[in-house]
Amino acid sequence: MCGIVGYVGKSEGVETLLEALSRLEYRGYDSAGVAVLNNKGLDVRKRAGKLQGLIDDLRRHPLHGTLSIGHTRWATHGEPSELNAHPHTDCTGQLAVVHNGIIENYSELKDQLLAKGHRFRSQTDTEVIVHLIEELAKHQPLERAFISALKQLRGSYALCLLSSAEPQRLFGARHGSPLIVGIGKAEAFFASDVPAILGRASSVIYLNDGDVVDLTSSGPRVMDLSGKRLRRSPKEIHWDLAAARKEGCAHFMLKEIHEQPLAIAQTLANRLSVAKHSISFDRRTQSFLNKISQQERLIIIACGTAYHAGLVGEYMLEEVAHLPVDVDLASEFRYRGPLLDARTTVVAITQSGETADTLAGIRMAKEQGASVLAICNVMGSSIAREADAVLYTHAGPEIAVASTKAYTAQLTALALISLYLAHKRQRLLGTRFRQMIEGLSALPKLIEKTLASEAEIKMVAAKYVKCRNFYFLGRRYNYPSALEGALKLKEICPLIHAEGYAAGEMKHGPISLIRMGWPVVFLAPQASVYDKIISNIEEVRARKGECIVIASEGNNTIARYAESLITIPKTEEFFSPIVAAIPLQLFAYHIAQANQCDIDQPPNLAKSVTVE
Ligand code: M6R
Repeated sequence: MCGIVGYVGKSEGVETLLEALSRLEYRGYDSAGVAVLNNKGLDVRKRAGKLQGLIDDLRRHPLHGTLSIGHTRWATHGEPSELNAHPHTDCTGQLAVVHNGIIENYSELKDQLLAKGHRFRSQTDTEVIVHLIEELAKHQPLERAFISALKQLRGSYALCLLSSAEPQRLFGARHGSPLIVGIGKAEAFFASDVPAILGRASSVIYLNDGDVVDLTSSGPRVMDLSGKRLRRSPKEIHWDLAAARKEGCAHFMLKEIHEQPLAIAQTLANRLSVAKHSISFDRRTQSFLNKISQQERLIIIACGTAYHAGLVGEYMLEEVAHLPVDVDLASEFRYRGPLLDARTTVVAITQSGETADTLAGIRMAKEQGASVLAICNVMGSSIAREADAVLYTHAGPEIAVASTKAYTAQLTALALISLYLAHKRQRLLGTRFRQMIEGLSALPKLIEKTLASEAEIKMVAAKYVKCRNFYFLGRRYNYPSALEGALKLKEICPLIHAEGYAAGEMKHGPISLIRMGWPVVFLAPQASVYDKIISNIEEVRARKGECIVIASEGNNTIARYAESLITIPKTEEFFSPIVAAIPLQLFAYHIAQANQCDIDQPPNLAKSVTVE
């Protein structure tokens, strides 16, 4: 939510910002703006709506200058409009601020500033920050005024400040919302996320909460809120620029769906050895997992798709490792008053590592003595840094709002952990353990094979393009697959209502809605619950419902139950949600594409939900 960029260097600032902002579009936004310093002072340009509107405007009427800040805004306080878009300026027009987060005490600060004669133009919480700095800078140097202002803010922020009185530097600060510093050749950046600075910065500093930065083209000076200098070591950026580009694909989502064999292989790399039939992790994670193996209870917390991965994790861990697991939506977990202590391990699953509820959940868990393992994709993210141990999924940057490769990488990570713990706890040994290791190592190839049926899946999707209601039903390991299939479809195709259900729950309510034109997608791979699913299919057919069935290849009898059949390679039930994810993603993608939906940036959604 909200994307921030700041640039200090010798290149044209606006060009640099626009490229960076376009790489942050995936975060979700509804307006955009830039501010640049030139010999006339501060020039600001903002537009409501898509970034392209701002780009077109700036092509027609360019703004020149190097020192600059830019922003994509996801509205919280005040409607998405040009006036409310960032950057916001002070009364004199000499200071400009971009902000991600929420200032909780903004109305109290605003009253004080209004009383002192400040004039406000927007309805945002952000505008108070720039007026507050203006007020404080009347009596002290800008850096001190910036820090004094930060001390008065309550809530969360990632901030960037540009002042016409300081033409060589930007100031930045982080508290509860992500902000990084990118270091390039005689240029430096602030950004919300690494994709923004790929190709320009070679290393990155992940700022901590409480960090304040004075940024010049030779790099950052990081300090705390008392002005004390802090050491922050830059980390080399490993992601490739190609990861932030569509590379010929129509959408990032499609590109990322096809990247899954690689994403899964990267999750397994250096952890799974088929030759030795073993699983291992880096020292810290492995010793953490060894500790968990003695633990009495695990609680998985996550949101959205990552929560669905957690539900699959529950089946995996309980079945093979015999560890009791609860799975909670992070937004519920943090408020329901869970009973936690040192015997509990909380596993937080998150692609971005910045989801506000998941972050608050792990903080609460740690305060109550529980230990925390993160399964995370983004290196250096808040959750990765605050957890006691991290298992990175290494899926590469996921740009589309709809999670695809991060999901299957999360499932793969959960499979690795489950099998490791099962072996450690002596629940899975000998031939069976070796078979499961081989099953895990076969996944990238199996996913490649599944992706090869895209044309067949697209043909099935074409039959249902006009339908506006769907159910997705599954059982056991594929109950979460049903939830995920429905989420994928409604998320990228907002014209459609889709609901995922445990197939056994149908008779307890939803079956009343079954009728012609209301297709039901059944997850029916070869599994222990296969016969039960067939009974559920019969029940739907008896009510004239149309069944789209996802089944294992080689199943010659199922076609008679299905209006449409999609086959997936045979696999152990344990791995089936990973394989089944592919047709569900492609089905959603092709329905959304035929309906001309904005697939990569669905309305109202943000990639990383940094406010609760
Ligand atoms: O970054 P996270 O994995 O913590 O994000 C959690 C959810 O916001 C995310 O999975 C969301 O549901 C996806 N857009 C679904 O595709």
